[in-house]
Amino acid sequence: MDYFEYRDSALWCEGVAMERIAREFGTPVYVYSARTFVEHYERIATAFAKLQPLICYSIKSCPNTHLCKLLARKGAGFDVVSGGELFRARRAGGDPAKIVFAGVGKSEAEIRAALRCGIGLLNVESEAEMDQLVRIAAEESVSARAALRINPDVDPVTHRHTTTGTRETKFGVDVARARRFFERFGRTKEVSLCGLHLHIGSPVNRVDPYVAAIQRALELIDELTRAGFAIDTLDIGGGFSAHYRGTEAPDAAAYAAAIVPLLRERGLRIILEPGRSIAANAGVLLTRVEYVKPANARRFVIVDAGMNDLIRPVLYDAYHFIWPVRPGEGFVPGARGDAIDAPGLVETDVVGPVCETGDFFARKRRLPPVERGELLAVFTAGAYGMSMSSQYNSRPRAAEVLVEGDAARLIRRRETYDDLVEAEHV
Ligand SMILES: Cc1ncc(COP(=O)(O)O)c(C=O)c1O
Repeated sequence: MDYFEYRDSALWCEGVAMERIAREFGTPVYVYSARTFVEHYERIATAFAKLQPLICYSIKSCPNTHLCKLLARKGAGFDVVSGGELFRARRAGGDPAKIVFAGVGKSEAEIRAALRCGIGLLNVESEAEMDQLVRIAAEESVSARAALRINPDVDPVTHRHTTTGTRETKFGVDVARARRFFERFGRTKEVSLCGLHLHIGSPVNRVDPYVAAIQRALELIDELTRAGFAIDTLDIGGGFSAHYRGTEAPDAAAYAAAIVPLLRERGLRIILEPGRSIAANAGVLLTRVEYVKPANARRFVIVDAGMNDLIRPVLYDAYHFIWPVRPGEGFVPGARGDAIDAPGLVETDVVGPVCETGDFFARKRRLPPVERGELLAVFTAGAYGMSMSSQYNSRPRAAEVLVEGDAARLIRRRETYDDLVEAEHV
């Protein structure tokens, strides 16, 4: 699952002790295991090899250039949803022909930038956006490739805020309207409307929603082909899960076992857009206990990371396994999750310093007793951790460190107070 493990009573990332990272780089700090990150990508590539897919790493999950470079070197493409992400993908060495661009609200400037760099595929989400794309492509005198993002109306059985493929969400075009969309735009000369795109949500802990959504897409492709439209691409999006509590998520092979047979004989160019399943288990947020505060029948452990560093618990009710870096005799965990039971565990709320009650990482969690100055590890924080961080409460963002074997290097410096006001020098 990952290369964060307890050895000699303390937590290590690959060949580097987490205590050393805290000493050298300070806390809070995001620590990434390069080996975990690359291996998760390779597992997906191996599991889906029979389809020879283009794997476009979803850059929003964890966009650090140094991490993206690791995947670009392996031949990965990138899934982007903004001009900023396109900029990042290209800076990381991403081949524009392997970049796909989704999003319901692409601006004119973003579409122009994508066309000018020779982007591989624009995933279009509405008639109005397609009108705009056709106009800009004509002005730029380029021919673009586009896929229609459909809304398959399939429940991914995940948090409502990250459900994207049901009909009440803003994403894509209803399957019932897709035929008309192709009749209107399917023979446009500036834009070759050559594919379908879908992304049903995230994390999707089951395979059956993918099967249902892909079947719907394939039925539509058959219908469109019969009507004379040439569809050569199917982008099935991202959403594969990660191990938050233990090993609860289907692995890449399990998703592939359900998906590959549906697509194998179709002769389509298949695109995948995984983010979380590559990045989540590759990152830990390392934080130090500032204070321990018994109050109102609760025990608060106040740490130096806040909701500005990791917002997932309050935003999505997300679970992150949290454990001391040096847990003490009898508390070294054999597995991750709530099931851990040992005499002496204490019910604890792990909270940050931000002035919001929503600034918590865990509530009523049974943890070993910890004291001021100790280090805690917040696991499975690599995806949608740093990328969703903010400077709320004027807190400079955390540093990021990449571990490769026995080496740990800074891949993003800790922000300073000057960084807080930098953009205000106008
Ligand atoms: C269009 C699209 N593709 C891919 C992803 C990546 O999802 P995940 O990180 O769960 O793989 C997202 C996430 O929001 C998305 O919106």
